[in-house]
Amino acid sequence: MNGTIPESIGILAMLVSLDLRWNSWEGVLTEAHFQNLTRLKSLWLSTKVSANSTLVLKVKQDWVPPFKLIDLQLTNVRIGPTFPTWLKTQNELNVLWLENAGISDTIPHGLWKSYPNVTDWNLSHNKLRGQVPYFKFQPLVARVDLRSNKLEGELLPNLRWLDLSSNSITGRIPHSIGMLKELGFLILRNNFLSGKLPPLWKDLQQLRILDLAKNNISGNVPSSMRYLRSLEALSLSQNHLDGEFHSFFRNYKNLQSLDLGRNKFSGKLPTWLGESLPSLLRLRLRFNLFQGDIPQQLCPLSNLQILDLAHNDFSGVIPQCLGSLCSNEKEHYFLEYDYQIFLVTKGIEYGYGQTFFGLVYSIDLSSNNLSGEIPDNITNILELVIMNFSMNHLTGRIPKKIGNLHMLETLDLSMNELCGAIPESLSSLTFLSHLKLSSNNWPGKIPSGNQLQTLNDSSIYEGNSLLCGPPLSTKCSKDETKLRVTPNGTVVTKMEGELSHSRSGLAW
Ligand SMILES: *[C@@H]1O[C@H](CO)[C@@H](O)[C@H](O)[C@H]1NC(C)=O
Ligand SMILES: *[C@@H]1O[C@H](CO)[C@@H](O)[C@H](O)[C@H]1NC(C)=O
Ligand SMILES: *[C@@H]1O[C@H](CO)[C@@H](O)[C@H](O)[C@H]1NC(C)=O
Ligand SMILES: *[C@@H]1O[C@H](CO)[C@@H](O)[C@H](O)[C@H]1NC(C)=O
Repeated sequence: MNGTIPESIGILAMLVSLDLRWNSWEGVLTEAHFQNLTRLKSLWLSTKVSANSTLVLKVKQDWVPPFKLIDLQLTNVRIGPTFPTWLKTQNELNVLWLENAGISDTIPHGLWKSYPNVTDWNLSHNKLRGQVPYFKFQPLVARVDLRSNKLEGELLPNLRWLDLSSNSITGRIPHSIGMLKELGFLILRNNFLSGKLPPLWKDLQQLRILDLAKNNISGNVPSSMRYLRSLEALSLSQNHLDGEFHSFFRNYKNLQSLDLGRNKFSGKLPTWLGESLPSLLRLRLRFNLFQGDIPQQLCPLSNLQILDLAHNDFSGVIPQCLGSLCSNEKEHYFLEYDYQIFLVTKGIEYGYGQTFFGLVYSIDLSSNNLSGEIPDNITNILELVIMNFSMNHLTGRIPKKIGNLHMLETLDLSMNELCGAIPESLSSLTFLSHLKLSSNNWPGKIPSGNQLQTLNDSSIYEGNSLLCGPPLSTKCSKDETKLRVTPNGTVVTKMEGELSHSRSGLAW
């Protein structure tokens, strides 16, 4: 439905529950819309976010609603800029959502105490200021979502779901977090938390999501984190944490996402990784100091969709079995929390929410010290969207069947020592929009046609002294067009049979 909500809805005196969510509403709601709704207990209203229309709730400062709600869920309904005073009359609420309500105000004094029955708070995506409340909730409080506000101060909560992401919270994560035995979701992403991780995690055996990304936390991962056996997602990315890839991560049998990116973790990857974390879908270790081989034993991770080991110091060869990663039929299991992961595609780092998981398959091994050949069976990962092996010391040729990777959008093999022919089959990759083959040893004429026709930027191929033809300005001379690559990948300058081609005019 779209358009305005008619005032006449306010005459439905027997109405108990009104759910108008997920439509495209606009216009202004006033007192008249609620005039006779004396029995209303639950009001659920949301509208799609749109640039040119808004839904506004505009009532007088001293409005006393005729109802006493139990469940109020407003999403994308403009109520602000001040905190609505009429809410004071709604002291029977169990659920209170004013999500993206355009409120830029300080949190009213005593707000949390005024609603003793609320177990589900969602004041996210506003511009609320002030101290984080000193939560003294009854154990029945299930969820507090204060994401994307401007809260600051220290926190001391006591609940099952705590999302304080994207605020300005400073200080350490308090030791008392360790007392929240019921905590299932702890999301403190994107704040200014600093100091070390608190030491007491032993009792948080219900914790399923721990997201502390984008803070300023330093030091080690405390060993008491070994008890977090229920973890499904762990993100510690963009902090200053150090230490090794802990052996106790193998206790996390349900772990689907592990993101340690942009820290100072070091040492080798354990060989038990593949076997011990069978549920892993996403492994992101980007920008750390890991070294040694990428273990062959990674390959039991047949559910993996994202493998990002870029910008470490891994050496040795790419495991031969890489093609058996990502091979399982995926169940699309969604966490209740919109976990985000950042991937570099098309040269830019994008955040992907979990709606994209299952769509984006990525292997990024760029900027390491890998040598040897690209395993042929990588072309078995038919879902692959991003493949970035740039800035290594890879040799050999591009797997012949690269054209099988029909979903491929980003292919970066630049700055290696690859040679052999650039396969013609690249031109059949119709989604390919970011190709980089610069600084290698490819010989001969650049293939053309189909998709490659659209990728006509010479920087894709530059730094290959033996390459010629458009989009490079180097013309292929008679000799260079004679460069031929035999089926086993070696380059031959003069071949028998060339004559017949030249005779028919095909060679140049
Ligand atoms: C509602 O949607 C219909 C169909 O898309 C459109 O023709 C109409 O203009 C819309 N009305 C308003 C008020 O946006
Ligand atoms: C991060 O923490 C360090 C000390 O651990 C401090 O020197 C630095 O200023 C902090 N950075 C920010 C952005 O808070
Ligand atoms: C890169 O790997 C090779 C062996 O594959 C090793 O000899 C060399 O020391 C490594 N370089 C660095 C900078 O780690
Ligand atoms: C591949 O990785 C390198 C190094 O991490 C990065 O600079 C480059 O932009 C990536 N390529 C693409 C096409 O995303």
